Amino acid sequence: MSADEAATLVPHGANVGMSGFTGSGHPKAVPMALARRIEQAHARGDQLRIGVWTGASTAPELDGALAKVNGIELRLPYQSDPVTRERINAGAMDYIDIHLSHVAQFAWFGFLGHLDVALIEVTAILPDGTLVPSASVGNNKTWLDQADRIILEVNSGVSTALHGMHDIYYGTRLPPHRKPIPIVSPGDRIGDTAFRCDPNKVIAVVETNAPDRDTTFTQPDATSKAIAGHVLEFFSHEVRCGRLPPELLPIQSGVGNVANAVMAGLEDGPFGRLTAYTEVLQDGMLNLLRSDRMMLASATALSLSAAATRQFNGEIDRLKHKIVLRTQEISNHPEVIRRLGVIAMNGLIEADIYGNVNSTHIRGTAIMNGIGGSGDFSRNAYLSIFMTPSTAKGGSISAIVPMVTHVDHTEHDVQIIVTEQGLADLRGLSPKQRAASIIGNAAHPSFRPALQDYFDRACRLSPGKHTPHLLDEAFRMIKATG
Ligand code: COA
Repeated sequence: MSADEAATLVPHGANVGMSGFTGSGHPKAVPMALARRIEQAHARGDQLRIGVWTGASTAPELDGALAKVNGIELRLPYQSDPVTRERINAGAMDYIDIHLSHVAQFAWFGFLGHLDVALIEVTAILPDGTLVPSASVGNNKTWLDQADRIILEVNSGVSTALHGMHDIYYGTRLPPHRKPIPIVSPGDRIGDTAFRCDPNKVIAVVETNAPDRDTTFTQPDATSKAIAGHVLEFFSHEVRCGRLPPELLPIQSGVGNVANAVMAGLEDGPFGRLTAYTEVLQDGMLNLLRSDRMMLASATALSLSAAATRQFNGEIDRLKHKIVLRTQEISNHPEVIRRLGVIAMNGLIEADIYGNVNSTHIRGTAIMNGIGGSGDFSRNAYLSIFMTPSTAKGGSISAIVPMVTHVDHTEHDVQIIVTEQGLADLRGLSPKQRAASIIGNAAHPSFRPALQDYFDRACRLSPGKHTPHLLDEAFRMIKATG
């Protein structure tokens, strides 16, 4: 049926589990049709708002369109859309920021309420009724299993050559009946290549032919190149010390330009036979796979620029055996991340002198995106690395502050902080030693004296304290520069 007809099947107050992860694999037509319907309903004075659950961020035609017409009552678990962000921070939309590995199990536990509709983009419906996923897997398996009714968007713009790349695990159970996840190497395949789907629940099939979000990356600048340089030098050092093998350990690379720059650095670096156990596969990692620097990548989504997608579509058959796309409960599974010894690399908004990290809030109150998978990985990684430019907003704000205004990753989960200034290796250090390393190695020189002065006075005025702070002025630097 048409997208407009399908949109009429979503009632006010429904919780809708949609496909979509970092701009790929989201439904492209029904959300827009729903936004039109919502706008008309609101013009008539009727109520029409829904709960939107996804894998992670989507695109303007989903989050943007629905947020613009004030059609979202509650959003989870991760978004990066400017209109949605503005609505959340204006108090017009509730938002629940959840670790991405938790979402599926929370739905199964019944912690999130009832799932009424699943709205899922697929590449194809096979004769046996199973569904070939598109460019992301996310929480789609759970949405298809849990929802009362299913709307499918079949996108003929996605290459059918993707069939065979996915690995959909059907072995998860609820406690106390859980079994170990049988992955001992990043490339292990443990599931089906397509989603199972009860045909009796399917209420609409809509055909589309539309591209994913064009996730563009800036060319690495001097700052991100310097950060990548410090990370690579650190890896070489760890290999020399025998703490990492020459092919390193499976890499997790977060979202954004700095992460992409580190991948570009690895392309020119001394390491070969790399692997990745990560969440998103961006342009930089695709280049590593293409150049054979990387043997294999496991992820839950592709998140590519339009140019990289075009190139990828022409070489899927060649690259297929090197990529596994899993459900996000498995791509981000703490048990597997710990077992494989993943090297986690994520961005941050601010870190404090003791190594607590804020990844989500500006000035402690306004949401930026969400925690995404950064907690899943950093808490359980072999090495947990956070990377950031040492300043924001043209050098006026320090990324290193006395005390973070919001905590996503505690000092216990943060081992390495890297800025263009240098690398603070916090492993085996006490809080005061951590402060010396972070201020000395990672802070920008223009903020270093103020941070050092704060730390020195905190030590003097609270003698002997384990983690010295001046609570009256811990946020003064943020107030002054924000
Ligand atoms: N104060 C105010 N604004 C700040 C700031 C600070 N301390 N630090 C960053 N910002 C602003 C930047 O100026 C920029 O704003 P703009 O878009 O208006 O220019 C924005 O925040 C993003 O910062 P940027 O330096 O471009 O970093 P990024 O694109 O690498 O994103 C995070 C950094 C933390 C927002 C991003 O990594 C994120 O969302 N992380 C959480 C989720 C995650 O880690 N996912 C990966 C898991 S697999």
